[in-house]
Amino acid sequence: MYRTHNCGELRLENLHAKVKLAGWMHKSRDLGGMTFIDIRDRYGKTQLVFNMDSNKDLCEKARKLGREFVIQIEGKVVERSAKNADMATGDIEIEVESLELLNASKTPPFTIEDDTDGGEELRMKYRYLDIRRGKVRNALVLRHHVALEVRKYLSNLNFIEVETPVLIKSTPEGARDFVVPSRMNPGMFYALPQSPQTFKQLLMVGGMDKYFQIVKCFRDEDLRADRQPEFTQIDCEMAFIEQEDILAVFEGLTRHLLKEINGVEVAEFPRMTYAEAMKKYGNDKPDIRFGMEFGELNDIAQHKDFSVFNQAELVVAIAVPNAGEFTRKEIDALVDWVKRPQIGALGMVYVKCNEDGSFKSSVDKFYDQTDLAAWAERTGAKPGDLICVLSGAANKVRAQLSALRMELATRLGLRKPNEFAPLWVLDFPLLEWDEETQRFHAMHHPFTSPKKEDMALLDSNPGAVRANAYDLVLNGNEIGGGSIRIHDKATQALMFKHLGFSDEEARTQFGFLMDAFEFGAPPHGGLAFGLDRLVAILGGQETIRDFIAFPKNNAGRDLMIDTPSVLHEEQLQELAIQVIGPKQV
Ligand code: AMO
Repeated sequence: MYRTHNCGELRLENLHAKVKLAGWMHKSRDLGGMTFIDIRDRYGKTQLVFNMDSNKDLCEKARKLGREFVIQIEGKVVERSAKNADMATGDIEIEVESLELLNASKTPPFTIEDDTDGGEELRMKYRYLDIRRGKVRNALVLRHHVALEVRKYLSNLNFIEVETPVLIKSTPEGARDFVVPSRMNPGMFYALPQSPQTFKQLLMVGGMDKYFQIVKCFRDEDLRADRQPEFTQIDCEMAFIEQEDILAVFEGLTRHLLKEINGVEVAEFPRMTYAEAMKKYGNDKPDIRFGMEFGELNDIAQHKDFSVFNQAELVVAIAVPNAGEFTRKEIDALVDWVKRPQIGALGMVYVKCNEDGSFKSSVDKFYDQTDLAAWAERTGAKPGDLICVLSGAANKVRAQLSALRMELATRLGLRKPNEFAPLWVLDFPLLEWDEETQRFHAMHHPFTSPKKEDMALLDSNPGAVRANAYDLVLNGNEIGGGSIRIHDKATQALMFKHLGFSDEEARTQFGFLMDAFEFGAPPHGGLAFGLDRLVAILGGQETIRDFIAFPKNNAGRDLMIDTPSVLHEEQLQELAIQVIGPKQV
């Protein structure tokens, strides 16, 4: 037996017990007559003590151990004279009687501590060492618990987990596909699923009724803190349901997770239409943990000689709580911040709301105190606040002010990681105009059903058609999205037509689904959560990398296994592939 206990479980009630522990040499302190070593494993750390007087050889052996050496010890649990309240096992230590070196270790390239000195790239290259750090280990444990709770919750509701294939044909979720060449079909490729969307719909046609799957999805898109090229969805679909049924089930699941994982009880989730979210927050995934709602000022700011506002499609503002005391320098820095190319504002007008009820603005030349008081009222600004005003083309200026709102909320500590504010965003537009290709794209995906009452607009004003589509937003992050699907061939064909597919293209790409719809497809709908994002947020973070055991870096590379990498010439030949990029080996 390697161990009788793990390194995190011994307490005062184990006093005098003879124990065996195995783990890594975390830290060692040599105090002359005594040597203390912390032994660490997945469960925690325990202090070992070696006494020069009672066992010189053993003590000398212990002193030779390096960081991360793997050891096994046997000894007796004793009470510590100097207890350590920061350590779960801090009341006891082990008087070691025997020590075995199981494996030596090179000096690790960074310290295995919560606050490590290792940079991101280095930690990714040695991810197996990074995983020994409490922070990453806890993130993986949290992920396990979330996945387990999801499986339990959905299984109890009669959902069954069905695996769908990974070597498939393109699924249109709006990103590029990762493709896999087929040796047996030269010149032909599989695509990896961007999601199991079409398969889960086929499972509904197959009568499976309530499906879920915790499943890897692959999307070749630019990476961000909340995006990885391969990520995991909790993918779900239900038949014979309406939108309300789906919202109820998955609101229940989210509430269950918040309770089980975070011990937080949340009231019924608020709901907002997409149009309302864009108007109030400039964003379809608003963080509603704090206010700072948009106030539109066109009617009260466009009547004076300030041509910047007069020419703008939209003049819109937020009141930043208690930011009235920002110095001139701080405000200038804020103006520079919104003018950065990533944000793209041309400038920012501000109003300081003084404690005495008066106002001081950057446009005092054009606006008097009555005007500014009306702006304050519109934005809900109170004495001591700072009103920030942007203007320009409506869509752009909303996005810019939304970015400013989030930035200021972060700076002011309003985005509290242990506070949870879920929100349903409903009634997304069905179609989205794409400037680059000069055509409409499905905002969610082409299988999403339009709202019946908007169907008539499909020809006259396609951009105004709303969909039976919804997103679940948590703390300003889109953690899930779904829709009620089209389940008849005629409507699906009409959708493809509006998305610019010829009959022929629709047939080649989605013929299988259209065919299935002719064999009694039930009304159905579903949604998918981003598991990585969900776990990260429940863990109080927004970067998903640390919640994935082996993530990719920003360039989509795995630095540890060093991939993507070139293929051997023979392998390329076998696959009938000619490479134009970097030289093959
Ligand atoms: P959607 O494309 O909205 O919907 O994806 C569902 C959820 O998956 C997460 N997500 C990601 N997480 C990490 N990295 C990525 N690159 C990434 N892309 C998406 C998000 C998102 O809300 N088939 C539909 C679902 C449906 O209609 O049922 C779909 O995939 O949290």
